[in-house]
Amino acid sequence: MSGFSPEWLALREPYDARARSPAVLDAVAASLSRYPSIRIVDLACGTGSTLRALAPRLPAQQNWRLADNDLSLLARATAMPRPAGVTVTAVPLDLNRDLEAVLDGPVDLITASALLDLVSEEWLERLAVETAARSIPFYAALSYDGRIELDPSDPFDAAIVAAVNAHQRTDKGFGPALGPAAASCAIARFEKFGYSVIHGASDWVIESDDRDIQMEIFAGWASAAREIDNLSLADTAAWLTRRRDIVTAGRSSICVGHVDVFARPMGTR
Ligand SMILES: C[S@@+](CC[C@H](N)C(=O)[O-])C[C@H]1O[C@@H](n2cnc3c(N)ncnc32)[C@H](O)[C@@H]1O
Repeated sequence: MSGFSPEWLALREPYDARARSPAVLDAVAASLSRYPSIRIVDLACGTGSTLRALAPRLPAQQNWRLADNDLSLLARATAMPRPAGVTVTAVPLDLNRDLEAVLDGPVDLITASALLDLVSEEWLERLAVETAARSIPFYAALSYDGRIELDPSDPFDAAIVAAVNAHQRTDKGFGPALGPAAASCAIARFEKFGYSVIHGASDWVIESDDRDIQMEIFAGWASAAREIDNLSLADTAAWLTRRRDIVTAGRSSICVGHVDVFARPMGTR
């Protein structure tokens, strides 16, 4: 499964949904509760996971502008069943090139999930400038923060985690990625623009029975380690084999640290 394949997004969605910080979700919902209808722009929507997580908590009349550069993900996002009162518009575009275009027109909330760790510091600054200029609240869920706990441990875990975190900082189409620094950088940027920011942990808690997602995660981490090349091919392959055996035996659990952020212009809404 590739990083943004529909299969991977479907596999991770239940873990994302469980992980989303309830305190941050409550703050988003409370800030919009008095609106009869709202207009939301979801950046890098994938198949629409943020809409599915947030729509039940927002006023009944919602228009979602779903933006992504992957037409097949966008098609899935717009084809999914939706609650009555929820309309969607697909916006196919490259957010690195055309961010400003998707923010044009009336918008009450900008959302993103699993996006900020892919973007560069420069792009995040651009997003914060454009969002603050329009005085729009911003909800960004599930930014990876660099914390990984593995049980049981393995002598090569530290090298693999170091490789994953180094790989996180490579260019994902927006310039050198923020990776684990994404959430803290977003908090600082929005506070600089006078926003009130709350944040909460949204860690993936993956138990021993969750074999499929663990197999995918470990395969992804092994290929990140190969690209970073801080471990030999033989050591990486041996680590992956040991990890897979433990998963198959039902003895592996992992925690992957994420952070949710809600930034709200002060004195409004
Ligand atoms: C990790 S997925 C997250 C998808 C969705 N938000 C979710 O939480 O399931 C990252 C998404 O970013 C989109 N993406 C990556 N680079 C992009 C770009 N330059 N412009 C628009 N979308 C992009 C991918 O197509 C993918 O849907």
